[in-house]
Amino acid sequence: MKKSAPVSRSGRFASGPAADVTRFTESISFDRRLWRHDILGSIAHATMLESIGILSKAELKAILRGLDNIADDIRDGRFKWDPNCEDVHMAIESALTKRVPAGAKLHTGRSRNDQVALDMRLWLRDEIVGLASEIRSLQKALVRLGADHGDVLIPGYTHLQRAQPVHLAHHLLAYVEMFQRDKQRLRDCFVRVNVCPLGSGALAGSTLPLNRELVAKLLGFVDAKGNPRLTQNSMDAVSDRDFIIEFCSIAALIGVHLSRLAEDLVLWTSSEFGFVRIGDAYTTGSSLMPQKKNPDVAELTRGKSARLVGNLTALLTLLKGLPMTYNRDLQEDKERLFDTADTVRATVRITTAMLQHTTVNRAACKAAVSDPMLLATDLADYLVRKGVPFRQAHHAVGAAVALAERSGKPLDQLPLGDLRKINPRFAPDVKDVFNLGNAMSRRNLVGAPGNTQVRRQLNAWLKKLK
Ligand code: ARG
Repeated sequence: MKKSAPVSRSGRFASGPAADVTRFTESISFDRRLWRHDILGSIAHATMLESIGILSKAELKAILRGLDNIADDIRDGRFKWDPNCEDVHMAIESALTKRVPAGAKLHTGRSRNDQVALDMRLWLRDEIVGLASEIRSLQKALVRLGADHGDVLIPGYTHLQRAQPVHLAHHLLAYVEMFQRDKQRLRDCFVRVNVCPLGSGALAGSTLPLNRELVAKLLGFVDAKGNPRLTQNSMDAVSDRDFIIEFCSIAALIGVHLSRLAEDLVLWTSSEFGFVRIGDAYTTGSSLMPQKKNPDVAELTRGKSARLVGNLTALLTLLKGLPMTYNRDLQEDKERLFDTADTVRATVRITTAMLQHTTVNRAACKAAVSDPMLLATDLADYLVRKGVPFRQAHHAVGAAVALAERSGKPLDQLPLGDLRKINPRFAPDVKDVFNLGNAMSRRNLVGAPGNTQVRRQLNAWLKKLK
């Protein structure tokens, strides 16, 4: 047993915890990364304690200087993280009290329960801002690739079968839309993270006249008008981890979006498609097959999404049976959150870099999109414009496709006579249907992959993401 008992046990306990209990219950090995935000919270709390007369001016000054020194020591790697201290909150407080006697007053009206809720909110606020800006860079890379190849057409697919022609840019901009919604979700989530729980105590507030508004303002927990935003129920405030789950759910969705993009890249870099090439620096080789160039970055991006989904599932499971209010189970939220934040950010960043090192194989795209079958729907629309009901037009073109397959001729090479046997409305102007340029300028509804629309979308995104 240790001689000096941890701060939380002084008084009540005859001995310190057994060594294996210390090892099992500690979080200092992973929650130390909250140190910056823990110190920020303590600075605000101490400032408030002085304003209500619990600390003297001199005591506040000493505490602030002590916290400052600790911050310097941690940043420069000089700080001794005491494994007996359980967590980051106790490590910093006990280091402070060793340096500054007034440190013993810092925890007045505060519990580690509202303190950890505060630290997590402060930490997550910064993460959200950082992630949103990384997503913006990813969107830029997608738009750039699309804009640099604004004239490139590829087949669009459903069921992974060739369907209709689209601009490559249109395909890439689909992801830009997804990531835009993800950014909006992050912004929404930020609003709910940005509420100050300090003053909730262990679960039932405090009998002392703490100034919660002041603490909230000092820490930037304010609305657009600068009014403080405070949690309104102390029991909820210390046991709520919705804000973490919300973030992890958005991160999981971002992971799923990244995974789909990665899957497209895996397909597109295969010899079967060959639409794009990923630069050597962003691919790997095979230890056995000398010819291989593998899209491992894209594959791992796909794989990382599993962790993000797993972390979300773990957190939901962690919370579901907890009685009110704080329970130590909640300590398990940290590694899942940290892992999610690190994983999603690293994945967004590497995907951006990979896209910046991706080139388009125009010839392969052109060859694929020249398949006249892609314009079968246009052929049906042609008949519709001649007054044929769509169901009959669909049937007629189906028959033409079958004939083309049977006779081994491309759809656009069937003799007009054969087409007219299928439907007499086919006329010599039918050959215009197979002009891809025409086909693309016809697709002009809002959101469609026609020339004008795609140009408009590219310009709008270029402007928005400037
Ligand atoms: N390390 C703890 C956690 O992450 C801090 C709160 C501890 N509170 C307590 N009552 N033991 O949840």
